Parts: sequence; C-alpha cells; structure tokens
Amino acid sequence: MTDSQTAHANTPRIPADQLHGYVRAIWQRAGSAPREAELIADHLVAANLTGHDSHGVGMIPRYVESLADQQLQLNRHADVVKDAGAVLTVEGGKGFGQVIAFEAMERGIERARRLGICAVGLRGAHHIGRIGHWAEQCARAGLVSFHFVNVAGDPLVAPFGGADRRIGTNPFCAAYPRPGKPPLVLDFATSTIAFGKTRVAYNQGKHTPPGALIDHEGVPTLEPKVMHEAPFGALTPFGGHKGFGLAAMCEIFGGALSGGFTTHADTLVTTHAIINCMLSVIIDPAAFDAPDAQAEADAFLAWVKASPLAAGTERIYEPGEPERVKRAQREAAGIPIDAATWTQIHSAARAVGMSEDEVASWSARLG
Ligand SMILES: NC(=O)c1ccc[n+]([C@@H]2O[C@H](COP(=O)([O-])OP(=O)(O)OC[C@H]3O[C@@H](n4cnc5c(N)ncnc54)[C@H](O)[C@@H]3O)[C@@H](O)[C@H]2O)c1
Repeated sequence: MTDSQTAHANTPRIPADQLHGYVRAIWQRAGSAPREAELIADHLVAANLTGHDSHGVGMIPRYVESLADQQLQLNRHADVVKDAGAVLTVEGGKGFGQVIAFEAMERGIERARRLGICAVGLRGAHHIGRIGHWAEQCARAGLVSFHFVNVAGDPLVAPFGGADRRIGTNPFCAAYPRPGKPPLVLDFATSTIAFGKTRVAYNQGKHTPPGALIDHEGVPTLEPKVMHEAPFGALTPFGGHKGFGLAAMCEIFGGALSGGFTTHADTLVTTHAIINCMLSVIIDPAAFDAPDAQAEADAFLAWVKASPLAAGTERIYEPGEPERVKRAQREAAGIPIDAATWTQIHSAARAVGMSEDEVASWSARLG
C-alpha cells in the first residue's frame, strides 16, 4: 500500500537526503563527531524509508532526553572485551547504538569471513534501532545472520497468560543474502506490534489493531494511550505462547549470554535510556558444502509465491519485500512526517543548542 492510500495521505513529505542533513546537523550540534552523526542519520532515515517510522527520526526526541539524563554517551566505540576467535564479546558502554552495532557487525563480518562463522555478544549499547539494518550490513558482505535482541530493563510486554508488563519488545531478525538479488530479511518485534507503532498511533490520534494491547487491569484495548499515559497497560506477545517463548530466548541470548543484563526487579531502567543487548550469529554460506543453496532458496520462494491469493490479498511477499517496496515509494515521493513528530524533533533540536533561526531555516527548507 502506498503512503497516499494510508494515514499519511495529507502529511508533508520530506526528501530523504534533506532529512538526513537535518539529522546530521542535530547530532553534530549535540556534540557527535561527523562520522557518528552520519551513521545515526543513515540508520534513522533508512528506517523511515523502509516504512518503520517507529524506528526512524521520531526517535530523536527520546535520544535527546536520554542524553540529558546523562545516559546516552556520545562518540563511544564498540569495545571487544573478550576475543575467543569465533566468539566476540563487545561492550557498548551506552554509546550510540547506531555506531556501536555498526562497529560490532564490522568485527563479526571480518571474523565470519575468516573463520566461516562468528557469534557476537553485544551488550550495553544504547538503542540499536531497526535490527534489519544490521542484518542488511551482514547481507551486503554476502553473509547469513540471525540476531536475538533484548530491550534490557524496559518491560512493555505481558508474558503469555500474564496481565502486566514484564518483558521488552525483544526483536528477532534473520537475513539470507542472494547474489544479484535483494536479501531475505525477517525482522520483527516479539510484541504484537512494536512499541514505536503505539507512539505513531498516539501522535496521530489513531487506534491500535485489536489484540495488540491490554490496559492496566489486563483488559484488551485499542487505545495507544495505555502505553503513554498512566495508568499503564501492556503490549501482548505476538502469536501467544510462541511469541512469548521467542521473546524469552531473545532476553536470555541477548541479555544474559552476552554478559549484559536481563529484565527483572533489580534492573529496571528508570531513565529515558533504551539499552539493547544482542546475540548475532554471522555465517559465511560458502563455508557449507551447499553448491545448490541459492537455487534451492529461489525454487522455494517461487513455489510459495505461486500460491493462489487468499481473498483480500494483493500479493505474496517474501521476508523483506514490503520494506523494499516502501523504500522505492519513499525514495521517489519523500518521507511523510506527521505534525506532532515534526514538532517534537524541532524541540529536540533546540534542546541540543540549535537556535530558533536555525530550526526555522531547516523547517522552511524541509517543509
Ligand atoms: N531496537 C529495539 O529495541 C527494537 C525493539 C522492537 C522492535 N524493533 C524494530 O522494530 C521494527 C518493527 O517491528 P515490527 O514488529 O513492527 O515489524 P512488522 O510487524 O512490520 O514485521 C516486519 C517483518 O515482517 C515482514 N512482513 C511484513 N508484512 C509482510 C507480509 N504481508 N508478508 C510477508 N512478510 C511481511 C517484513 O518483511 C519484516 O521482515 C523492526 O525493524 C524491529 O527490529 C527494535
């Protein structure tokens, strides 16, 4: 579905390269080195381009709040605290996830190319955003990867059978590169919807889909305000006990195995920080004895895509295809940013020291 057919129909659209410029300017004003500001802008704008506005430039106000809380640390780099060959442990030190995860993947990619496989346990990074971005980095290097992530100390999701928030939205992601073709990228929160999507719905005055939320008494609700105003409710895990189980494994692989932390009464984050830990397993497909792997993958995809369409369905997508379609649309037509999000981003720009004139000038240029 195009943006012009959705809630974004009347929302102003901003060309990706201009939005990228504003994001870079905000973070350089906050004190980020140019390379850091570039990586942040690459990541946030790419999330908007793929249609995941929940993880795009709308995160800037939260990052600025975390900076003000002295949680988010600027200009930090991934620190390999243990090198066991095919297993690396990386400390993030609350540095910008957009830098720390990029550098952690660079290390893992180099090792997987040399050894055939590398497991990277990344701990204590500030928000690493859209996990598909990191899987795509591995896929561009020709490598398969899967990623288990916890949102440490930030319970938003009820356990299967529970009535209050106990677990993070813990994303799982897997990517399969295909020479000469786009990679398959599966990337989702283990909650029925991502938390950021409740923020987008809240800002737009919309309901969330049925089954996604419960209120503070555990009763199903369509109101996104239960995630943004007290008394707080919770997201539900996707797919009942299966989503809950996957979220639990993300918590333990991401948070415990990496030497980071899991979510429980002693670790609740009370600031604006979002702390992610991630176990990434990166594999060189050439290390397997599988000369027909690509042909087999392609044959399977052609087979499933040949299924007759169910009523009301326009097409059958492979994992990652909806994001590619959205990206092509938004590269051509611009990125829609709703008024509430735009106001919040300008306030964040002022909070890091941009003058009223500079903000007005960016706003005029982008609007
Ligand atoms: N860093 C964090 O703490 C954190 C936490 C939670 C989520 N996230 C990110 O939030 C983003 C959004 O997550 P989400 O759960 O809202 O994603 P989602 O529900 O939109 O699902 C996206 C996945 O499903 C596939 N998909 C979507 N529609 C499809 C269709 N019709 N047919 C086939 N495949 C389809 C997509 O290609 C993609 O792989 C993800 O990028 C995730 O990494 C990050």
